[in-house]
Amino acid sequence: MTNKKKKLYITTPIYYPSGKPHIGHAYTTVLADVIARYKRAIGYDVFFQTGLDEHGEKIANTALKQKKEIKVMLDEMAVVFKGLWKQLDISYDYFIRTTDKQHEQAISKIFSTLIEKDCIYLGEWASYYCVSCEENYTKSQIEKKGDGKMYCQFGHELTYKKEPSYFLKVSKYQKWIKNVLTKSKNFIYPQSRVKELTNSFINEGLTDLSVSRTSINWGIKVKENPKHVIYVWIDALFNYLTSLGYLSKDDKLFKKYWQNNDVQRVHLMSKEIMRFHCIYWPIMLHMLNLNLPTKVISHGWVITNQGKMSKSLGNVIDPKMYLDDFGSDALRYFLIKELSIEQDSVFSHDIFVKVYNGDLANNYGNMITRVWGMMQRYTDYKVPALSKKLNNLDKQVIKYHQDLIDNYKKYVDEFKIKDLLIKIQSSYDVLNKYIENVKPWQLFKNKQTETLNNCLNIIFHFMVDLNILLSPILVKASVNFFKTFKLKSKDGKKTIAFGPYYLNKDSKARYEMYADHNFKPKNESDYPKIIFARR
Ligand code: MSP
Repeated sequence: MTNKKKKLYITTPIYYPSGKPHIGHAYTTVLADVIARYKRAIGYDVFFQTGLDEHGEKIANTALKQKKEIKVMLDEMAVVFKGLWKQLDISYDYFIRTTDKQHEQAISKIFSTLIEKDCIYLGEWASYYCVSCEENYTKSQIEKKGDGKMYCQFGHELTYKKEPSYFLKVSKYQKWIKNVLTKSKNFIYPQSRVKELTNSFINEGLTDLSVSRTSINWGIKVKENPKHVIYVWIDALFNYLTSLGYLSKDDKLFKKYWQNNDVQRVHLMSKEIMRFHCIYWPIMLHMLNLNLPTKVISHGWVITNQGKMSKSLGNVIDPKMYLDDFGSDALRYFLIKELSIEQDSVFSHDIFVKVYNGDLANNYGNMITRVWGMMQRYTDYKVPALSKKLNNLDKQVIKYHQDLIDNYKKYVDEFKIKDLLIKIQSSYDVLNKYIENVKPWQLFKNKQTETLNNCLNIIFHFMVDLNILLSPILVKASVNFFKTFKLKSKDGKKTIAFGPYYLNKDSKARYEMYADHNFKPKNESDYPKIIFARR
């Protein structure tokens, strides 16, 4: 029997370990993790991979500068990257390093196959090369500055190089790739980037890509001609397949998550490397008769108030600072809620603190202590049952809650996690307003028990569902929430599982889920912990 579960293979770029990861790397990785967790929650079989791009001139130069052996430096950096992802609760399934033997062997075979298929030929290469971008630029993409030197669009100094080189015959596929990019509205998100790509790279004429170097030796050698080292981008792009075991003895995962038409194959990155992922990568896959990714999501840059982050300006934001100070949930939340896929977004400390205080300390945290406090006073920690007699205010909240449950999956399916988060966050405003209007303290004083019980039941269940819906983002806080209220999952009909917890699709069943549940604390350690203390 075939496994009918929907599948998702999601990847981040493999990062250059030439420096410590910064907030931009953290953004892509958190976004991929949150998508992976939401998709798992709605029943997808997910494989999520990240890793490091460890070859090329940039890496060799970094080790030289640090006076370290390359492999020693790489091993140290792998620890740094993995450590950061652990601290950020990144739930990757596989971490690839391009110096892994299995990867290197597969790349060497792939290169040979491309030579055999006449997709790669030997020629001579002369160009301005940017070591920092690991990319060569055409005359129209570079600028001569006052010092007489050439610079790329990012301000890195270029070197002029002339050497024998292998070339990938991409020019032959100009029409084919244009068709791939423009035919499907779903292939690239956001669609606005398709025009940028076709105008800048394809319409100008796609020239064959130089795919080997003789001037460097830190990389995978061309078997047929070992003076040549395979271009780092060819080596890197195929990580998406080698990590699944492509061309190795065990290629089960490759068959399951790549050569299988029932899989969403999604690459995530920011815009500057779209050209590689949307032009050269599909062309190479096509040359080898392999499946293409089904979606490339390219988000905007994280910038600062002074513009792009750069070492020389000293404005590079270190995610560790925020993690150590505010914790991983707060950083994850901020990145998803405030940064944007469609545009560049400013990371500002002031906005971080504002969002932390407003959304997490006030809305999220206060709701927990507020509900706990009311139920402590009015029901001795018992969740009362819902009666049939509901007033208009109750009905309005129930409708809002129902609407959220009916729609959250659509947001997840369309990768619109930020929009979902905004909707979840506004639920706290709805709940707070409801409490202000219903005034449970007055109902208690006036002994209007039925109305009070309805209100407490509704708030409690809505708050539980908000925690379930937030659990892919607030990984630690949500676990803590379920512990605080002594909640265990109960399987019922018409339920949607989120980890061990359930959202009831059906409104009546939803409000019965925890009726009569008692979370009376035994000792002080059972009291709610303040996870997001105000700053
Ligand atoms: N090694 C290549 C990728 C090869 S993938 C087959 C590379 N590495 S990188 O270290 O430069 O990482 C680039 C990626 O890091 C971006 O595509 C993006 O995912 C993330 N970011 C790095 N700086 C960024 C910002 N300032 N803002 C947002 N994300 C950015 O390119």
